[in-house]
Amino acid sequence: MNAYLNGQFLPLADAKVSVLDRGFVFGDGVYEVVPVYSKKPFRLDDHLRRLQGSLDGIRLTNPHALEAWRDLVLQLVAQQDYPDQSIYIQVTRGTPAEGQPLRDHPFPKAGTPTVFLFAQPLLTASAAQKAAGVCAVTAVDNRWLRCNIKAISLLANLLLRQQAVEADCAEAVMLRDGFLTEGAASNIFVVKDSVLLAPPPSNLMLTGITYDVVLELAAAHGIPHAVRAISEAELRAADEIWMTSSTKEIMPIVRLDGVAVGAGVPGPLAQRMDGLYQAFKQEVMRA
Ligand code: PDD
Repeated sequence: MNAYLNGQFLPLADAKVSVLDRGFVFGDGVYEVVPVYSKKPFRLDDHLRRLQGSLDGIRLTNPHALEAWRDLVLQLVAQQDYPDQSIYIQVTRGTPAEGQPLRDHPFPKAGTPTVFLFAQPLLTASAAQKAAGVCAVTAVDNRWLRCNIKAISLLANLLLRQQAVEADCAEAVMLRDGFLTEGAASNIFVVKDSVLLAPPPSNLMLTGITYDVVLELAAAHGIPHAVRAISEAELRAADEIWMTSSTKEIMPIVRLDGVAVGAGVPGPLAQRMDGLYQAFKQEVMRA
């Protein structure tokens, strides 16, 4: 079975929820995307902790304890016959219980959250894609002020990402009040004079699990790095720009708004970090 819905493993095609689910009518829910390598979920507890943070952020009681979540994910992973997977987890505020208004903005007084998971093959970038890098466009970050919640209501992110796609690019790099926040579906790192720079976690961005791993690897391997605000001018003068996420891993951005980033090819630090990241994955999988 490649899906799980409210207590039952089932084929994804059979997973159905009510059209009155608040996830459907209001985007009232949160999600996670967990990469799985060789059938081992990568940093699962970190993803589940971030899920808890998102649920707290929208004041929805977590329907499962950490141990139950772990068990659910591991069961779903075990049921797939391919080794590298992407596990999508979504929790919504569900359908209002009987007697509650059908569609009403305030939280229903009674109702059960909807818990939905599905597995699909993990599509990471090929070596050739990483060697080529991608282009990105900048965009004004016009999202709300609670971007640290991994909310399913992604309309602003979708519109921003579409701007990038229509410019034949992979990502929109967002700026708010003259400072870098993140990508429409990724975190953004900058390299200047061999120093790796990352914007500080705040309510204005989602702190990626990949972002954390990159900073841990930089610290462990003596790569000079700083977590601090990055201005638009610094972004545009960067020697390297990377996007990171669970599915993209570390992807060099080689053109920004049509202008070459550094030499216009993936930089040496991106290549080094990708090597460290791949080695770290292997280590974790063997453990
Ligand atoms: N998104 N910021 C945003 C807005 C994101 O959507 C994501 C990932 C990240 C990176 O987080 P992580 O390293 O934990 O994947 C940062 C996922 C992959 C998605 O929406 O599909």
